[in-house]
Amino acid sequence: MTPTHPVILRPVEPRDNAGLRTIYNWAVENTTATLDTEERSADAQDEWIAKHDGLPYPAIVAEDADGGQIVGYASLSSFNPKAGYNTTAEVSVYVHCDWHGLRIGSALLSSLLMEADRRGFVCLIALITNGNEPSLRLHRNYGFMETGVLPKVARKFGGWVEVTILHRVLGDAA
Ligand SMILES: CC(C)(COP(=O)(O)OP(=O)(O)OC[C@H]1O[C@@H](n2cnc3c(N)ncnc32)[C@H](O)[C@@H]1OP(=O)(O)O)[C@@H](O)C(=O)NCCC(=O)NCCS
Repeated sequence: MTPTHPVILRPVEPRDNAGLRTIYNWAVENTTATLDTEERSADAQDEWIAKHDGLPYPAIVAEDADGGQIVGYASLSSFNPKAGYNTTAEVSVYVHCDWHGLRIGSALLSSLLMEADRRGFVCLIALITNGNEPSLRLHRNYGFMETGVLPKVARKFGGWVEVTILHRVLGDAA
């Protein structure tokens, strides 16, 4: 998938801290896409980068090819720390709010799926909150199937949040 604005996709680096926090903290303050309710600090972002800049979990950033701004990122994280789940990971994709709808999320997810396959992950899980139609469309476009719905599983902004579980099996196992 080619974005409608040129971006460079590359692995996350420590220097991406501020760019990642701008994107994530906008989602914390304005959406239920994340169920974090407190903004992520610089230290917490450093820890997140350290967990995603090597094995087993990758993060890919999208950088504006014209100006170098971080405009989005996609990552894999632990779905469940128990060893039996080691071939499963949870997917996250975030695009800067000024850059939505430019196929950057699609490019990131496509690249992340290839990276996940290369690393031997077999099952990817996406947890999408009610009303997040762009994210549902994005994941369905890349073969994620709806597996179930968790009603009243979380609260944010004074209301209940429902979560739809989607999964995608990779490689030969698919
Ligand atoms: C979800 C998100 C990553 C999508 O990234 P994006 O770069 O804007 O999406 P793309 O341009 O690649 O489009 C992907 C699909 O979403 C659809 N879409 C994008 N913006 C939309 C909108 N405002 N309303 C409805 N659908 C929308 C596109 O039409 C496309 O679907 P289609 O091919 O069936 O038409 C982005 O909206 C985002 O970062 N949202 C906030 C954080 C978030 O929700 N992350 C996901 C957590 S599960």
